[in-house]
Amino acid sequence: MDKLIGAALFARENARPSYSHFKVGAALEEESGRIHTGCNVENATYGLTVCAERVAVFKALSEGATKFRRIVVAAEGTRLASPCGPCRQILWEFCGNIEVILVNLRGDARRTMLADLLPDPFDDKVFR
Ligand code: THU
Repeated sequence: MDKLIGAALFARENARPSYSHFKVGAALEEESGRIHTGCNVENATYGLTVCAERVAVFKALSEGATKFRRIVVAAEGTRLASPCGPCRQILWEFCGNIEVILVNLRGDARRTMLADLLPDPFDDKVFR
């Protein structure tokens, strides 16, 4: 777990929060133990911002990853940053009910499951 938290904190340093100035890092672990990281990337249109979690998921998928175990999200502040709605949806669809660990820079941590963050989700089971 320390390794995964360290990877999220390290990735956070690469964030490009030019407008919000709020850096976020994510580290997504495959069932195999392989780790994929992400950071938030903002741009001048604002609306094209991509969160750390989605960067990590899309990087992992592009590397061929299919089965996931957990994700760590790292940000500053006493109130732990929880994934936004779009990220919850993407995590659910591509990673399933993984463990979500929120951490800050002071060492506070909270653990939850994605299904608790996204109850009654929409996914392809509806139409498949
Ligand atoms: N952000 C993330 O990367 N992940 C979260 O879980 C919450 C928000 C980013 C988006 C934006 O770049 C900045 O944090 C402020 O909202």
